[in-house]
Amino acid sequence: MARRKLIAGNWKMNGSLAALAELRAIADAAQDAGGVDVAIAVPATLIAPAVAMAPGLAIGAQDVHAAPRGAHTGCVSVDLIAEAGARFSIVGHSERRADNHETDAEVKAKAEALRAGGLRAILCIGETLAQRDAGDAEAVVLRQLTGSLPVGTASDWLAIAYEPVWAIGTGRTPTVGDVTAMHGAIRGHLHALIGAEAVAVRLLYGGSVTGDNAAELLGAGNVDGALVGGASLTAAKFVPIIAAAV
Ligand code: G3P
Repeated sequence: MARRKLIAGNWKMNGSLAALAELRAIADAAQDAGGVDVAIAVPATLIAPAVAMAPGLAIGAQDVHAAPRGAHTGCVSVDLIAEAGARFSIVGHSERRADNHETDAEVKAKAEALRAGGLRAILCIGETLAQRDAGDAEAVVLRQLTGSLPVGTASDWLAIAYEPVWAIGTGRTPTVGDVTAMHGAIRGHLHALIGAEAVAVRLLYGGSVTGDNAAELLGAGNVDGALVGGASLTAAKFVPIIAAAV
């Protein structure tokens, strides 16, 4: 089936009010990119000004707490990011799984909270280099998928991003064959978990995507878009990736 491509940026802990000017050109490119959805996850403090700067662009958060409110110093809830104008959040990014020891169960709860609040989610999974070298990459990724897949998974609110940890910010990418194999395994496992709806859920690739390699990676089997870190920080680098998806 034909799935609309989704090109999502993840600014991580980068950007500034001044840097939001980049969103204007990205929003223009998104408008011209027929058949492609474009989204940017910015730091929480930049959500509201980003929405004001580029109202047509899907602006999101990079993480959210699963609880609706309460004694969780430093965290933000789904309602808080929604009030700021966010339409989605990333959950389960490997940097949060590593730095904040987030478990699959916590990631799942965050995704379910997003759905309950009417927002979309991009759920990240991916193996480390040691796990790949040990031949465990597929088993690790499918185990993460099983553990963190939210109840009620459906293509209208959830996308899954396969991000091999060793490809993030390193300039290294898997071969097209490796991406096709992993995305095929994810699609198959998703089908076993949720049935026919699995065909419609978008599977993104993330890890050192650039304007130079985007067309090749987006052409791999079962790749329905990209989750882009460093190359999403400027329009000059991000717009070519959007163009490669058209
Ligand atoms: O979430 C996107 C990310 O982890 C990939 O980062 O900088 O390798 O594109 P980068």
